Order: sequence, then C-alpha cells, then structure tokens
Amino acid sequence: MSGSFRGSDVVSVRDLSREQIERVLTVAERMVPIARGEEKSDELSGKVLGSLFYEPSTRTRLSFEAAMTRLGGRTLGFDEPKGASVAKGETLADTIRMVDAYSDVIVLRHPQEGAARLAGHFAVNPVINAGDGAGQHPTQTLLDLFTIRKEKGGVDGNHVVIVGDLKYGRTVHSLSEALSMFGAKLTFVAPPTLQMPREQIAHIESKGLEPTISSSLEEVLADADVLYMTRIQKERFPDPAEYQKVAGAYALTRALLRDAKDDMIVMHPLPRVNEIHPEVDGTPHARYFEQAFNGVPVRMALLSLVLGGSE
Ligand code: NCD
Repeated sequence: MSGSFRGSDVVSVRDLSREQIERVLTVAERMVPIARGEEKSDELSGKVLGSLFYEPSTRTRLSFEAAMTRLGGRTLGFDEPKGASVAKGETLADTIRMVDAYSDVIVLRHPQEGAARLAGHFAVNPVINAGDGAGQHPTQTLLDLFTIRKEKGGVDGNHVVIVGDLKYGRTVHSLSEALSMFGAKLTFVAPPTLQMPREQIAHIESKGLEPTISSSLEEVLADADVLYMTRIQKERFPDPAEYQKVAGAYALTRALLRDAKDDMIVMHPLPRVNEIHPEVDGTPHARYFEQAFNGVPVRMALLSLVLGGSE
C-alpha cells in the first residue's frame, strides 16, 4: 500500500506503515463526536458499503454499519451466507464481483485465511478484511491501538501482556505485529499448544523485539501495563477433544488483579466466554466496553480514508 489509503485494500497490518496507522488514529479522534451522535456528518452521503459476513459477528459488523450510517452512507449485504447465493454454490470470486458492482467498498469476514487477499483481486473497489480465519483482523488492531493510545497516552514503551489463544486468534496476530512496529514490550501467555506461531514471532523479532513467552498469567500480571485477554477459538479446533484440554485455561478474577499495577488496563476484543469474570467489569482496570465503542470512530476514519474523504 502506498502512503495514501484512497482506493486501497486493507488486508493485513503488514501492509500498513506506522505513519498510515497514526493517520487513521488521528482521523478517528475527529470522528468521536459524530460516532456518539453529538455531531452530524454527510461525508459519505451516497456511498454504499457491501458488508459480507461468512462468519458470526456482533461488534465488527454492527460497528462498520454504525460507522457508515453516522457518515451518511448506506450498507447492504448479508450476515450469514445461508441466505445468499453462496448456499447455491456460488464462488467467493463471483459474489465479490457482484457486490463490487453494487457498492463502493467491501467489508469481508470469512473462515478461510487468505480470503480477503483473494477478494481484493476480484474487486475494483477497496476490500477491508474483517477477519480471515486464523489470519488477520487489521481493523480490530486499529481500534485496539486507538484504545491503548487514549488510555495510556501512547503505545511506545508499554508492556502489553497478550493472553489466551495465540495460535488461532487473528486479533492477536495483527495486534502483536502492530505493537512491534510501535516499540511496545510484549509478553505472550498461552498453553504451549496455543502459543504464538513461529512465523509470527520471527516477524516480531525482525523488528528488533524479543517477546517473552510464558504459560503463567500469575507470573507476569504484576508487570503488565495492558492485559489483553482473548477467547479460546473453539471453532478453529480440528478436534473437539483438543479444545476441551485448553478450555478455561485462563480466567481473570478480582483476586488475580490484586497484584496488578493501579493503572493497568484490561482489554478484550470480545466476545468473552469465561476468560474474564463479570466481577472484573466494575474494577477501574476494565476497558473492554470502551474498546468496543472505539470500533465506531476508528472504522469511520478508515472508511473515510479509503473512500477518499479524509486525505
Ligand atoms: C474477534 C474475532 O472475530 O476474531 N472478535 C471481534 O471481532 N471483536 C475475537 C473472537 O471472536 O474471539
């Protein structure tokens, strides 16, 4: 991707430079009052978003739709492929060609890694990856960075402890790459079978960072500035018995938080299953609901940039 976003696909964090990421975060700041409904905008009036979700989603799909609506644009698409011609055997390529003709930008979530990159080859308009299997989830990362920057005053120098399913979790693949670009200190906590893939660690090391690898949340929690919890990705396990072995591996409670720094924040891309106990919601550490809201201004910024509104 060149310096400009206009007309570009957003498939992987690796396609983005630090300057481009900072541009999205700066534009997102400006979008906050519009995202809250306090100010009105018709910046994307007449524009259409094609929203194709081949996998379940609440926050990503609805915050993209809210973002488009708040900027005066419209959304069409499907939230499960059963109701679309996919059920009749239509290929991804053909569906993309059609929706490309009906819209100005496509947001795609798909169970297969590489699907968004492929879709980008068939679409003339920009394709934004809203999660491709266990691959990447770049827009989640943008809102995660926005949240860290807002809550901690910046990203650089923070110790970010990432916990849970680091093997199949696409949010943490994108996030750890971005954090290595911003010079955060990284610790990866997972059962050995769900640790960060070797290729991912090699990429982070190539940026000059040496992430700490651990399987114990208790051992590393006291030193964390940001604790990023994730769900074990049940749907990606080839064998349900393997899932059972690691289900419930980490569960954050109030008791565990006793060791945390006063200003440590807890994040989670959501949905959570049992990795954050609801009793944590009322502590001064919890930021996951604010994080979920931040998806709206950040996606507004991205849509505005790829559609050429905020250059
Ligand atoms: C995540 C995803 O879909 O990868 N959810 C989200 O977009 N907020 C995380 C998850 O499903 O566990």
